[in-house]
Amino acid sequence: MTQTAVTEPEARDRVIIFDTTMRDGEQSPGASMSLEEKLELAKILEEMRVDVIEAGFPIASNGDFEAVRQISEIVTESTVCGLARAGVGDIERCAEAIRKAKRGRIHTFLSTSPSHRDHILRASQEDILEMIQKSVTHARNLCGDVEWSAQDATRTEGDFLRRCVETAIRAGATTVNIPDTVGYTYPSEYEAIFRDLMENVPGCDTIILSTHCHNDLGLAVANSLAGVQGGARQIECAVNGIGERAGNAALEEVVMALKVRGDRLPYFTGLETQHITRSSRYVSAITGFPVQFNKAIVGKNAFAHESGIHQDGMLKDRGTYEIMTPESVGQGATNLVMGKHSGRHAFREKLKGMGYELGQNALNEAFQRFKDLADKKKHVFDDDIAALVDDALASGADRIQVKRLRVVAGTEGPQQAELTIAIDGDERSAQATGDGPVDAVFNAIREVVPHTAILRLFQVHAVTEGTDAQAQVSVRLEDDGRIATGQAADTDTLTASAKAYVNALNNLFARKEKSAPDAKVASGF
Ligand code: KIV
Ligand code: ZN
Repeated sequence: MTQTAVTEPEARDRVIIFDTTMRDGEQSPGASMSLEEKLELAKILEEMRVDVIEAGFPIASNGDFEAVRQISEIVTESTVCGLARAGVGDIERCAEAIRKAKRGRIHTFLSTSPSHRDHILRASQEDILEMIQKSVTHARNLCGDVEWSAQDATRTEGDFLRRCVETAIRAGATTVNIPDTVGYTYPSEYEAIFRDLMENVPGCDTIILSTHCHNDLGLAVANSLAGVQGGARQIECAVNGIGERAGNAALEEVVMALKVRGDRLPYFTGLETQHITRSSRYVSAITGFPVQFNKAIVGKNAFAHESGIHQDGMLKDRGTYEIMTPESVGQGATNLVMGKHSGRHAFREKLKGMGYELGQNALNEAFQRFKDLADKKKHVFDDDIAALVDDALASGADRIQVKRLRVVAGTEGPQQAELTIAIDGDERSAQATGDGPVDAVFNAIREVVPHTAILRLFQVHAVTEGTDAQAQVSVRLEDDGRIATGQAADTDTLTASAKAYVNALNNLFARKEKSAPDAKVASGF
């Protein structure tokens, strides 16, 4: 294993992008991701040229361990990192999970603030220094690339933080992270912490200092950039800014701020930013967390110009109201793209331009769906294509598939659904009524595939404008502590709902089978 190398002459201006969507991001209440989803996300992050992928917290669960282990096997360009507390057990489990990584990193952390020392660790400053020395040394004996984090660093006494950082560096840490764990710091204050460490702690110039900012006061991105101005050369961030409580610094925002404002922030990242929109859509789909319309960079309205004055300016010169192009972040959604006469070759080229590289089977499946959609829908936009490809990728290998659905809805209840599904190719049908058409559809699914899972989330949004727009539906199910999310898109909202529920069910059953391979996990199987 080698450590994340920054050896170019201009290396001091290169900012390492450390993505924690699968670790801190997954700590967002309700944002759980399946192993398959994490593997797919890891591929997207690697294609985007993220430098470090924090893939999980191996000691936390077998699922996290497996995710870090399998991501270590498939990722070759990015560094794959696992999180560990300061104990020997955590560090060794993490080392085992990243063992096969071409570039692996152990990220170990310990709280340093008086609040955490007194209330959580019940440890003195001297105890903390000893734990840092032992944990980092142990990690370094197992891996050449070790990051140490001072949890709640921004509420730690300045002189003690300096001693902690110096201890970590002496013990062999190659990256030292200064988290604003509770989202409390202010940009100038955070910048000053880094300047102070750079000036006063021996060895800081030989390692990478890192930011890790939470967004409790809405300052995570501003703080991360201020940290870079103070001397940090790694930013920890998450796609769409997901993470514990109010989330982490949003990857897309820090990266585009560095790119667009190179005049004020003369640093660069290695990111291929045209993959940003795709990563945002994917994370939103698998977590079921919608992206707010006015979200910077990836919101639906981020490049929409509504007022007449703005539209007039845009037609004369895009620079009048646009500080970056939608194409630079992979958004081409305003373009009408293709119709039902478009061929397979054009479709494949279109997908390539949108950042999708599909294998032959997935391409055929997506192309068929595109043809079906073009028959039903007058205008097919990039967003439509992205939704149907994501849908095909999500459900392609599902053992249970929706075949036919008929729903009676309207003012006279009860609403009714007649559903036929196929389980490994065998068709089964059921009828059910419900309190509304969606309830009837979900009851019909429960009839035909009996299960005990509880519906935790049902969410619908329109992919594009117009009454013929596709509905994109996310469903989250929970059973016996396991959570699985499903999604689907269709011009028929009820069909999309049925497919999303069935996709979630497939994911749930797949997880149960993995943890108990001999068990007959569903009475429908
Ligand atoms: O916010 C935090 O302090 C963390 C650490 C584990 C790095 O997530
Ligand atoms: Zn955090």
